[in-house]
Amino acid sequence: MKAIILSGGKGTRLRPLTYTGAKQLVPVANKPILWYGIEAIAAAGITEIGIIISPETGDEVKAKTGNGDRFGAKITYILQDQPAGLAHAVKIAQPFLGDAPFVMYLGDNLVQSDLNLFLENFKAKNLDALTLLCPVSNPSAFGVAKVDAEGRVLQLVEKPKNPPSNLALVGIYLFSNIIHNAISCIKPSARGELEITDAIQYLIDQKSKVEAYKLEGWWLDTGKKDDLLEANRIILDTCLVSSVLGEVDEQSSVIGRVQIGSGTKIVNCTIRGPVTIGNNCHLENCFVGPYSSVADQVTLIDADLEHSVILQGAKVEGIHQRIVDSVIGQRAHLKVAPKRPTALRFLIGDDCQIELCN
Ligand code: G1P
Repeated sequence: MKAIILSGGKGTRLRPLTYTGAKQLVPVANKPILWYGIEAIAAAGITEIGIIISPETGDEVKAKTGNGDRFGAKITYILQDQPAGLAHAVKIAQPFLGDAPFVMYLGDNLVQSDLNLFLENFKAKNLDALTLLCPVSNPSAFGVAKVDAEGRVLQLVEKPKNPPSNLALVGIYLFSNIIHNAISCIKPSARGELEITDAIQYLIDQKSKVEAYKLEGWWLDTGKKDDLLEANRIILDTCLVSSVLGEVDEQSSVIGRVQIGSGTKIVNCTIRGPVTIGNNCHLENCFVGPYSSVADQVTLIDADLEHSVILQGAKVEGIHQRIVDSVIGQRAHLKVAPKRPTALRFLIGDDCQIELCN
């Protein structure tokens, strides 16, 4: 069994963060989203992993993720020169995959479940395709499945206006090598992409063995800001283990599960977990509340925040109105004058959103 992880795409829904980096490298609880997928695949005993990269962000993904040693896996990078669809990604990965059955994992998806469960099902039933489904409130944003009472997939439609059910296709699929033939038989969709849903539909029409497994537990597609915050909340809630490597002075109090990286200094702060703070940060006179992730080299001085994600090298000063539900990009600088400000001065990048609310 091999695996491919798709880590291309433009990440338009996560702008402006994705102007300067791959969406799959945006951190959730201070770890790139992509790495959760790699870890899940390696934990299921699959060590040959192909990562599909794009010309725009491929080098960054490679540099950050490496050859797989840190995950106990062997990573091969496969360049997809244009975003021509998920099935196109499988097509270009065929030399890497050979005739092996494989897992296809979309690099911006996070699931709670152990992959082993699906692998066992796939192998035991000798399936050609196993898809994972999850009930959602907005099925039109996804691939949607119509299934019969036994869980057999009758029909798959990509982003339908009138969805046949509320069962969305999760971005994790298991295939036998028969999928390559299906892909060679389909045509690009109306949006000009080779859709994996069409290839699976082809298998269904050919009476191949296609089944769906309904996910239990959470599934997150981290395509947008609120999904990212929700992923951050859930991962901090379920996975964070306390550890304090940095320095915390006597005036500070650290409550609940909190991780503080090495080289970080915490001066006169209250940190109420679950919270993760990276390496080499400086926090002074701050309140950092639950569900916050603060990346490396961040400076927070006279600032209060909760349920927020602060990326590497950002600096926040003089904001005691609580910052909530926020994502602050790398090296961004927010500063409010100590006295009541009489003017607001901005240098704001494209697609940013600023809300001063009550
Ligand atoms: C892709 C698939 C869709 C699936 C979704 C899951 O959509 O085409 O069928 O439901 O991933 O994340 P995308 O997120 O690329 O628009």
